[in-house]
Amino acid sequence: SAVRTVVRGGLVVTAADEMHADVLVEDGRVVALAATGSDTAASWTDARVMDAHQKYVIPGGVDGHTHMEMPFGGTYSADTFETGTRAAAWGGTTTIVDFAIQSVGGSLREGLDTWYAKADGKCAVDYGFHMIVSDVNEDTLKEMDLLVSEGVTSFKQFMAYPGVFYSDDGQILRAMQRAADNGGLIMMHAENGIAIDVLVEQALARGETDPRFHGEVRKALLEAEATHRAIRLAQVAGAPLYVVHVSAREAVAELARARDEGLPVFGETCPQYLFLSTDNLAEPDFEGAKYVCSTPLRPKEHQAALWRGLRTNDLQVVSTDHCPFCFSGQKELGRGDFSKIPNGMPGVEHRMDLLHQAVVDGHISRRRWIEIACATPARMFGLYPKKGTIAPGADADIVIYDPHAEQTLSATTHHMNVDYSAYEGKRLTGRVETVLSRGEPVITEREFTGRAGHGTYTPRGTSQYLN
Ligand code: URP
Ligand code: ZN
Ligand code: ZN
Ligand code: ZN
Repeated sequence: SAVRTVVRGGLVVTAADEMHADVLVEDGRVVALAATGSDTAASWTDARVMDAHQKYVIPGGVDGHTHMEMPFGGTYSADTFETGTRAAAWGGTTTIVDFAIQSVGGSLREGLDTWYAKADGKCAVDYGFHMIVSDVNEDTLKEMDLLVSEGVTSFKQFMAYPGVFYSDDGQILRAMQRAADNGGLIMMHAENGIAIDVLVEQALARGETDPRFHGEVRKALLEAEATHRAIRLAQVAGAPLYVVHVSAREAVAELARARDEGLPVFGETCPQYLFLSTDNLAEPDFEGAKYVCSTPLRPKEHQAALWRGLRTNDLQVVSTDHCPFCFSGQKELGRGDFSKIPNGMPGVEHRMDLLHQAVVDGHISRRRWIEIACATPARMFGLYPKKGTIAPGADADIVIYDPHAEQTLSATTHHMNVDYSAYEGKRLTGRVETVLSRGEPVITEREFTGRAGHGTYTPRGTSQYLN
């Protein structure tokens, strides 16, 4: 039964174009676009009509960095694949790429199978996986090849968190050499964790235990140093490099320098680094713990460098690093010792809206909004043009976006399974109205009409990055 839908009368915005067009959807895919009012568009009858006059029609968001049900510091991130992907849908994100984790001593296979099982039948929108490689050895290097061929084409390594996920430079170089061979993409958590751990110990010994010290010990220079080292290791290995959650202007400078040299080096930042700062980490009564994540929030002066990087294409992607922990009972584990605060912040629901606000505020253009939030993450992670654009043949992952609606972000109205909002009381212009996932309405005029299990596992090709 061919279900036909026409999205009529909106301004279709992709990374490449803006046009007043109707979009014909059949069997979960985009079939055609035609100018609104044209004979072609008028010929599309026998279809469910979704009205988009005065609205934008944009590709569903692609969030390339989430952590649902992630074990960390003796607890788990608070969103399940069910609650987290539902919140993603509410916010106009129709694909997430989450991180499966290799446990120390375990295989990549075991880690990946654990994550397949966690997500299976639970998701409201489509999903894929990256693999966190925490133990590089002969076996895991071979497994990397197998994972690339089954659609897990990117691998995160950590220069931070000694004793947990940490890889040393030799392990990093080996994994990069393998990726250069098999087409995988290395994603780097670039912070010098060995040096940071020394500063953590010294801070705690001085009695500096509040959340704000998390920001002080995780120095911008140590992010920049690790970013530089990762870039040069990738250059030696002949591999492309994607640096995750860039927050320091000095790290942006390292990426810009490498890119000026022509290296295939890419950077991601996140809304929390663009909109929040160490002022939040310094909130009294331990409230700063809500903003503890790594890399950490930086002083406000860093934000301009991030916005600039997004405009100059020295940063290419904005993902959320959604990794929510409740304030009550989870963030509170670090009262009296900031190093015990679970690292991570909620955000999967608000990325598209916060970046639309950046359009309103003049930081980025409308097309750049779609590029950094939809098209480039889809290309970077081998999902394009199935995901990330509105074009014939693409999955009908489509958002009808009202650019004039006003909203106020709050934990009392959000859909993430976490007891606070990092943006409590923040007013935004623009709001998601309706969301199609492969042609199915999962949000219909601000009502959830999707279901757990509609979202399917989406194997990925190798990165289609554009330098
Ligand atoms: O603080 C963060 N970012 N938590 C999630 C894990 C990671 O390093 O991305
Ligand atoms: Zn109308
Ligand atoms: Zn990380
Ligand atoms: Zn992360």
